[in-house]
Amino acid sequence: MEKSVISLDQFDAKSILSLFKEVGRIKKTPFKKLQNILKAKVVGLLFFEPSSRTFSSHCLAAKKLGAITIEFQNMMTTSSTVKGETLEDTIKVFNNYCDLIIMRHPQMGAAKRAFDVSSVPIINAGDGAGEHPTQALMDLYTIFEHHKKLDHLTGLFSGDILYGRTVHSIIRGLSYFPGNTLYLLSPRQLRLSTEDKSIFAKRKIKLIEIETEKEIPANCHFWYWTRVQKERFKSLADYEKVKNRFILTEKLVKAKAGKKTLLMHPLPRVGEVEIKVDEDKRAVYFSGLKNGVYVRMALLKLILTK
Ligand code: CP
Repeated sequence: MEKSVISLDQFDAKSILSLFKEVGRIKKTPFKKLQNILKAKVVGLLFFEPSSRTFSSHCLAAKKLGAITIEFQNMMTTSSTVKGETLEDTIKVFNNYCDLIIMRHPQMGAAKRAFDVSSVPIINAGDGAGEHPTQALMDLYTIFEHHKKLDHLTGLFSGDILYGRTVHSIIRGLSYFPGNTLYLLSPRQLRLSTEDKSIFAKRKIKLIEIETEKEIPANCHFWYWTRVQKERFKSLADYEKVKNRFILTEKLVKAKAGKKTLLMHPLPRVGEVEIKVDEDKRAVYFSGLKNGVYVRMALLKLILTK
């Protein structure tokens, strides 16, 4: 296990499956036996961008393993960033207090910048439109748990493929396993970047861009819906033009989903998933959240104890 988690590019099939073995072990272990694993270790949570799930689940994961946490939910307003301190200096400061830093930042590449100056491991909890590796590992674990494999899958991603950092990380993760085909349904303006396309073209993964719901293939193993992210747009008018183009409705699920198609979304949703879909047994966007805690526990354990 590498010490920092910046990108899914650091993983391969073996390391993902070995992490999932650890997740399985943690899920089965009684809480009492876990609570001293990170005793006296200090985990810093430095969030420069809002978060509900990623912040809370990392925090819970660290505490369940017995770590001490330093928690900044609003670095942009409550830390010395306000006074003009650079990201690099902030990381060098927290290196003195922490054994590991979990960081979210609005700028793509910020996690790598932190890694470059840090003397302790960095976990990327989302860097702008870059990647969101721990969310992707959690989602891959949920797919693995339900379908018992990560190869020969057919999946659909819908919404914001251009800025969707979780999508970028999941595609990277699935590219290590043979036979995977992913359909990408998004407005033209939110298609995968040319740079990412050329990266994935060299990997064993088939990506097919589609333009309408009609083209969704039958019996996908999963549908992964995403929010069109207002915060990534320079112009509100451009956001308004595309925000509700693709909506996951009960009607669409009835028409196009298979019996075992997992209905996924990293959350938060802002109208692109109909509330009625929540009742569908195939919807795992709420029930799968516990896996986020277990996956993050496994990562923290492997990084800080090996
Ligand atoms: N999925 C996700 O990253 O959610 P938060 O922004 O609430 O952490």
